Amino acid sequence: MSNEEKQWKKDFPINRPEAHQVSRRDFAKLLAVVSGGMVLGNGMIAARYAFEDDTPSEKQMICTKSDIPVGGTKSFVLENSAIPYILIHTEEGEFYAYEQKCTHLACAVYYKPGTMKIECPCHNGWFDAKTGDVLQGPPPRALKKLEVILEGEEIYVRQTKINVS
Ligand code: FES
Repeated sequence: MSNEEKQWKKDFPINRPEAHQVSRRDFAKLLAVVSGGMVLGNGMIAARYAFEDDTPSEKQMICTKSDIPVGGTKSFVLENSAIPYILIHTEEGEFYAYEQKCTHLACAVYYKPGTMKIECPCHNGWFDAKTGDVLQGPPPRALKKLEVILEGEEIYVRQTKINVS
């Protein structure tokens, strides 16, 4: 051992076995910091849900009934958004609006006229045109649905809390 190294050890003596031990006080500090972080995190999550705005969005006019033939569709986006949606005029005379992204890997979905089904061609996924529920294939959940409001000839859509994620 060189003289330089001896001097260093003299100035900063370290007892190796003790250096690997954690004192009760240090352990209690660690527990307090971790517990405090967890309490703070849970509080923030609870506050987010407690103060969440559950009022539905403003309705937005998409088109008139005569703009979509029976069995036809119309693509649109909501104001201040780039997410594609699809409005369907089914053979039963009803209108339904869904996000046009498959819940599997986000491929575009299309209404298949005459079937009352929405198809995702990427992996043969199928959804119910009335409910958006998965009928077949790998999609893990239903399509995101918008509320459709008919006022005379005009068709409006609105996001509801259930569909906002
Ligand atoms: S992306 Fe639609 S089924 Fe896979």
